[in-house]
Amino acid sequence: MDKLVIQGGVPLHGEILISGAKNAALPILCASLLTEGPLTLGNVPQLHDIATMGKLLAHMGVKIEAQGEHQLSLDASHIHTCEAPYEMVKTMRASILVLGPLLARFGHARVSLPGGCAIGSRPVDLHIKGLQAMGADIRIEHGYIEAKADKLKGARIFMDIVTVTGTENLMMAAALADGTTVLENAAKEPEVVDLAECLIKMGARIEGVGTDVITVTGVPELRSAQHDVVCDRIEAGTYMVAAAMTGGKVKLRNVRADLLDVVIDKLRESGAEIDDDDDSITVSSAGALKSVSIRTAPHPAFPTDMQAQFMALNTVANAVATVTETIFENRFMHVQEMRRLGANIEVEGNTAIVRGCEFLEGATVMATDLRASAGLVLAALVARGETVIERIYHLDRGYERLEEKLGQLGANVRRIK
Ligand code: UD1
Repeated sequence: MDKLVIQGGVPLHGEILISGAKNAALPILCASLLTEGPLTLGNVPQLHDIATMGKLLAHMGVKIEAQGEHQLSLDASHIHTCEAPYEMVKTMRASILVLGPLLARFGHARVSLPGGCAIGSRPVDLHIKGLQAMGADIRIEHGYIEAKADKLKGARIFMDIVTVTGTENLMMAAALADGTTVLENAAKEPEVVDLAECLIKMGARIEGVGTDVITVTGVPELRSAQHDVVCDRIEAGTYMVAAAMTGGKVKLRNVRADLLDVVIDKLRESGAEIDDDDDSITVSSAGALKSVSIRTAPHPAFPTDMQAQFMALNTVANAVATVTETIFENRFMHVQEMRRLGANIEVEGNTAIVRGCEFLEGATVMATDLRASAGLVLAALVARGETVIERIYHLDRGYERLEEKLGQLGANVRRIK
């Protein structure tokens, strides 16, 4: 398994391009199942998760053609199975996103239950309840969700927890249902908005995206479309924290500052300087950062996918901060590993109390999930000496060419195969 070796202590300087968002690209790839016409996508990041979704869709019969480094064309005119097998789903929870589109277009789907994962139990009950409200007959048999519906019908669906992929699955299903579906307490994440924009180009009738009530009026069929995936705000946020922590100056291009309001706000509070224009953000700092407390919550509040990175920032900041995780019950696995680098962190329930220390020291640590790994990379970038990060396949799932981009900024990072 590959490892990353990082020599800390180099302030990052320079310019990098931010990739398309993994969490927007994944549902949009699944949206290709909703139509016979080809879906052409641009700004698709080259990541393991994208390749995994590609394999799952190809297994069903979707013809996928790469038309350039970040361009894909997907043709779902001939689907020969509506089954997502366990072997494929278990490696990536987002595979559940095929359920809504398959059921809506073909009237049946057999999708393995995703099961638990490193950051918590993460059930899919709200996806299932929503589809049942639209008239689907759903049973759980032998670990599979067996779903059938002659024709889905519009319904009013209230989700008692804000769920990103749940909202996306139901929005895709509703696009081809009979009548109008109202999704209440819907997720407002930019990736949900991006999926909706792609669906609208395909002919879907969707209103209220970006608010917590989304109304979808079903249409008989969707058509071919072209869409460029929105920028990855979490990748951008990660490099912004890296610039601030190392006391450097980094310009990110192909990014939208309006998607990063809370991250920008918190970085400014920590003492970093941030400038933005149309499609770029520049972060600079002198390195000595103030501790900043955060509390994760659904968009537009602080994203859980940036929690580990701000934990890393606080380990070397000048005071005490609290980091409260309200979305996932087991998303502090980086704490143990950061302690190995000398961080002073105590955990009480879903809150971590982080006392900034003068310096971290390099050590061998293990990546446990995608964003935890990103937090460890940031800590390693400021630690004295060498840090070895094991199990970096998590990073390859969600950060396109991480070591290349960090290297472009002057970081001393190498991958060992
Ligand atoms: C998505 C993102 C992930 C991000 C998360 C929260 C993708 C591919 N992944 O994950 O990176 O960390 O949003 O912003 O977009 N829940 C239920 N029942 C359900 C569904 C969810 O109880 O049916 C709970 C979950 O256990 C969790 C909370 O709702 O506690 C939010 O989860 P959700 O928004 O669904 O996360 P994902 O969509 O899986």
